[in-house]
Amino acid sequence: MQTTPPTIGVFDSGFGGLTVLRALMERMPQARYAFLGDTARLPYGSKSRRTIARYAAESAQFLVREQGAEFLVIACNTASALALDAIQDAVPVPVLGVIEPGAEAARAASVTGDVLVIATDATVQSHAYAAACRARGLRAIEKACPLLVPLVEEGWIGHPVTAEVIRIYLGELTAEAAACGLNPDVLVLGCTHYPLLRPLLEAAVPAGVRVIDSAQAAAQAAVQLINGASGSHETGQHSPSAQDQLRCFATDSVDKFERLGSRFLGHPVGKVQLVDLGG
Ligand code: DGL
Repeated sequence: MQTTPPTIGVFDSGFGGLTVLRALMERMPQARYAFLGDTARLPYGSKSRRTIARYAAESAQFLVREQGAEFLVIACNTASALALDAIQDAVPVPVLGVIEPGAEAARAASVTGDVLVIATDATVQSHAYAAACRARGLRAIEKACPLLVPLVEEGWIGHPVTAEVIRIYLGELTAEAAACGLNPDVLVLGCTHYPLLRPLLEAAVPAGVRVIDSAQAAAQAAVQLINGASGSHETGQHSPSAQDQLRCFATDSVDKFERLGSRFLGHPVGKVQLVDLGG
């Protein structure tokens, strides 16, 4: 069993990935964390595979080479969907994305085998969730919801406008599912920002549809990966001080990160350091 706590790098295009970090910290409070939000280049969800792969690989290298991360959790659904291979090629440590754990959680929750997925444009166009669901014998129908990230970034988490946008998106998605003869009983939140909208989403889904948060599923899978690779860390060790436990970095908008990050993390993020990863 490893005696020093592992350093886990968590990466997102912005600070929405703090929802994954939060779930990880709840499960592994004794680990040390380095979180990078590539806020200067957000959103990834409207960019090409090539650009996303370059940005994500540079971010991963920062966490491994400069922050000593021994494991990487790619909290960003878009980077997980389009750039997991590029990230794995760029760093010599185990890398876990959120797509496979999200699909696995859908498999565990679904009785009908039919699944709804909402995500960014790039994630939907990659059909990564549909493929991961198909590999588990599920049928998935995906919908891009590009307005939801800016609404969350604006802090409109319980706002009536956000509720209406969700109502329209989910209405279109469920109509499309019905037209394809699907009977979905699960909705996968395939974007880092969506867990913050969970109450509005739960209110808007048809009766009998369960909401699956890929952040929770990814954190669970990460704990298994890390414990499997380096011995158990879940209990019985000293937690580091809050200051040692978490270092946050952003490529821009440090003030906004410090201000809004606590909503995603559930407690203050502390001082966020600005890093320059190039253009
Ligand atoms: N982090 C992205 C995701 O989970 C959402 C924000 C973006 O488009 O960069 O897909």
